[in-house]
Amino acid sequence: MNNPHTHQPSGTDAAKASSRSFKGAPAKLASFGLLALAAALATFAVAPIAAKETRTAAASSDASPIYGVTIPKGYRQWQLIAPAIEAEPLNELRAVLGNAKAIKAYDQGTLPFPDGTVLVKLAWKHVQSPEFAPASVPGAATTVQVMVKDSKKYAATGGWGFGRFIDGKPADLAQHQTCFACHQSLVKNHDYVFTRLAP
Ligand code: HEC
Repeated sequence: MNNPHTHQPSGTDAAKASSRSFKGAPAKLASFGLLALAAALATFAVAPIAAKETRTAAASSDASPIYGVTIPKGYRQWQLIAPAIEAEPLNELRAVLGNAKAIKAYDQGTLPFPDGTVLVKLAWKHVQSPEFAPASVPGAATTVQVMVKDSKKYAATGGWGFGRFIDGKPADLAQHQTCFACHQSLVKNHDYVFTRLAP
């Protein structure tokens, strides 16, 4: 009747270890009760967080954290704005493409870019051409990065929503916390966009 094992919650190794060392003294029974209570509270405290994470992951499996930006359909058919080479340590080849709104804005020199503008930056490692040694050609794709202009939705970040994708999946929250700060600090005077139309 006073057997502590009847009070043992089924489950954790910690609880089992604790009951093994338990010798039946009332003071220890009290502390065991506290342990069980703590375990129960921990379960309640953790469950909503886990549920929230699952929900966030489900809602954003294809969309970037913070911004909810997705990879735009058909972007590989968009026009080229400019290529770029990134030195070490990234050491990448890049190409920035724009949708029709973006190209029109570039052609007419419109700043800020109008709502609906979408810019996509493709990036690859580069490798030596197997056919012609002096040529550097795209190797493995690294990231696809997207900027979407919506001056109302993204008012807090200069009107731009950001998304970085690796193998088609959005990068983590921490990476998305860096986007605007860098674009803001260096190219605020060009509507937060680095890339100029290649001549
Ligand atoms: C440390 C600075 C820095 C950070 C952080 C950064 N960018 Fe950029 N971004 C650049 C530079 C520089 C360019 C110009 C092209 C290049 O060098 O690749 C650029 C270009 C772009 C472009 C093409 C349009 C443009 O502005 O030229 C997109 C899209 C883009 N970045 C998205 C992102 C996203 C999404 C993130 C966050 C996940 C991000 N960037 C974080 C520096 C940064």
